[in-house]
Amino acid sequence: MPASPEEFRSALSQFASGVTVVTTRDANGKRHGITVSSFCSVSLQPPMVLICIEKTTGSHYAFGESGAFVVNILASSQSNVSEHFASRLEEKFGEVKHTLNEDGVPVLTDAIATLRCTLRHSLDGGDHSIFVGLVESVNARGGEPLIYFDHDYHQIKT
Ligand SMILES: Cc1cc2nc3c(=O)[nH]c(=O)nc-3n(C[C@H](O)[C@H](O)[C@H](O)COP(=O)(O)O)c2cc1C
Repeated sequence: MPASPEEFRSALSQFASGVTVVTTRDANGKRHGITVSSFCSVSLQPPMVLICIEKTTGSHYAFGESGAFVVNILASSQSNVSEHFASRLEEKFGEVKHTLNEDGVPVLTDAIATLRCTLRHSLDGGDHSIFVGLVESVNARGGEPLIYFDHDYHQIKT
């Protein structure tokens, strides 16, 4: 018997992670953004990362259609941005400062780092899909990261 969802959630809540908003656009040009903590470095050469997106999210289809996405790593001051993109609003970009990159994908202005990716692999991951992207370019502004741990937001204390 595998671990129950409750046991699984409880154990995973003890793993601290950064918080990202992953953005993309669908075939009609509609912008999508979703709060994602399941972001991970995969390979250095070539540079690759992965994100896991729940199949029931409103944005899931767009990642397959687009072929491009951006990982925006959030600053410690951006827990409100994380909550905003974790909601199921139809239009999420009205109030959030961003630009569009050459793929037409939103790049959040106040993120501490952004990675422009092209989709290389879409893999089945149970109730999530695993999207592996080649990192085409990066912008690392720097700053304090937002941390998610034990169902809440934290900052690194120095
Ligand atoms: C801190 C945090 C981390 C999250 N990480 C993920 C994740 O890694 N993958 C995922 O599919 N959803 C994740 N979510 C949930 C999505 O952001 C949420 O389902 C969102 O409403 C999806 O938006 P959409 O339905 O408009 O696509 C996370 C939410 C929070 C608050």
